Amino acid sequence: MKYKKHVFVCTNQKDAGKKSCGAEHGAALVEAFKADLKERGLQVEIRAQRTGCLDVCGKGPALVVYPEGVFYGNVQLEDVAEIVESHLVNNQPVERLTLKF
Ligand code: FES
Repeated sequence: MKYKKHVFVCTNQKDAGKKSCGAEHGAALVEAFKADLKERGLQVEIRAQRTGCLDVCGKGPALVVYPEGVFYGNVQLEDVAEIVESHLVNNQPVERLTLKF
């Protein structure tokens, strides 16, 4: 596998009036993950990128981390460092933000 972890952040934008990650701060989250990973020198082994709708729109802004397939919801910009540190670096998902199905 090329990456140790792969973060897909929803940046889907729906029509005005409908809740969507892109209408909130999905794109800013992608940039925040990229910046944090780069700062730590981890951008080669851990990749963050935008993706389309993850089908949990009501719980967004949403993202999913692979290979575990752990979904996160209501992710704020100030949560990024904690997700990187705890989950991406130390393999401990941030439970308060994970979505259970
Ligand atoms: S718009 Fe983000 S999960 Fe659907």
